[in-house]
Amino acid sequence: MAAAAEHRNTGQATADPSCSAGPQVTGLQIGPRSLQTRYFLAPLAGYTHLAFRIMLRRLGGVGLATTDLVQARMLLSETRKSLELVATNDEDRPLSVQIFSGCPGDLVGAARWLQDRGYEGIDINMGCPVARINGAGGGARLMCDVAGAVEMVARVIDAVDLPVTVKMRLGWDDNRITAPELAARLEDAGTAAVTVHGRTRQQGFGGTVCRRLLRETVQAVRRMPVIANGDIRTVHDAQTMFAETGCAAVAVGRGAMLDPWIFRRLIQAERGETPSDPSPDEQMAFLIDHFSLMRQQHGDYSCILFRKFAAWYGCVLGIPEDLEDRLRRFESVAEFDEITEQVRRRHGERRRQIPTALIRVPDGPVSHW
Ligand SMILES: Cc1cc2nc3c(=O)[nH]c(=O)nc-3n(C[C@H](O)[C@H](O)[C@H](O)COP(=O)(O)O)c2cc1C
Repeated sequence: MAAAAEHRNTGQATADPSCSAGPQVTGLQIGPRSLQTRYFLAPLAGYTHLAFRIMLRRLGGVGLATTDLVQARMLLSETRKSLELVATNDEDRPLSVQIFSGCPGDLVGAARWLQDRGYEGIDINMGCPVARINGAGGGARLMCDVAGAVEMVARVIDAVDLPVTVKMRLGWDDNRITAPELAARLEDAGTAAVTVHGRTRQQGFGGTVCRRLLRETVQAVRRMPVIANGDIRTVHDAQTMFAETGCAAVAVGRGAMLDPWIFRRLIQAERGETPSDPSPDEQMAFLIDHFSLMRQQHGDYSCILFRKFAAWYGCVLGIPEDLEDRLRRFESVAEFDEITEQVRRRHGERRRQIPTALIRVPDGPVSHW
């Protein structure tokens, strides 16, 4: 338990003068990690992979990113898919790897596997609403049994020297709001921080985030940082989240897809500057570099992987619809280059619009994602 005790109660907001993001930007200490900003990237399975994380980091402002959720047993078996999910490099720092399982032994094994390979932080998923994952005792199902969940996390904390964090929801449903109690008991067990998505599992991704219950969760702990999450799309959303909940940091998921410049805007606002809009050239560079980074990791298969980004790039960058349609179907690097050249020439033809509905979410609590 020594490592866990060291990690306890070390969540402090810090004005870090060495922070490359600027002297006025407040950082955060989570266990032994000094994070330079309080703006974190929430995992979005299928989107927040290595290439996308690096692109966001290059824009500035990301205090911490987390991988997509990785099944602990798959990681122990070193399946190709799980190794792709934990792929990282020096530019992709600071990073936590998110693991999930209903089986404590697998979680412990995966945590040790990660520690042995030099990863710096472990995040345990207790928020996923997907039926397949809950049915196996993982994800949000863990929140129904507070004692069992704490016991499971404690075993992981005991097994590694890395800071262990937990991502959860408010509870299973309105009648079972367990986040405040769970957070308090996780703090006692030595958890370094918790991220709370302000919805219940029953809500899925519908309805609104309950900031009152997020605040109750913040108030239930002593010093462990609580990171508030859900529906932050703008600088104003983040500022009001801090003000209304007292959270130590915010995690932005879909908001980072809809506006990859949101982290940069957040630090600009914190410094008292006017948040700036990306120029058309910057927007094009983002699109092209994102694909190029994907190719470095996935080779030609990137042509298929990248297609799922076409719809939101179309809206966010205002890509004319016929070209967006081609981005959904392109088959080669040469074709991608030709499409992007046309996008550049026809910039401004279509208005930018960023509907949240663009990002597919599991539709309701019992869906098969
Ligand atoms: C497509 C998609 C994939 C997600 N994947 C994960 C995941 O792998 N792990 C996790 O903890 N949460 C996951 N989430 C939940 C988000 O991290 C976040 O909690 C939720 O979307 C609310 O925050 P937002 O409004 O900023 O997106 C996912 C959400 C979406 C929409």
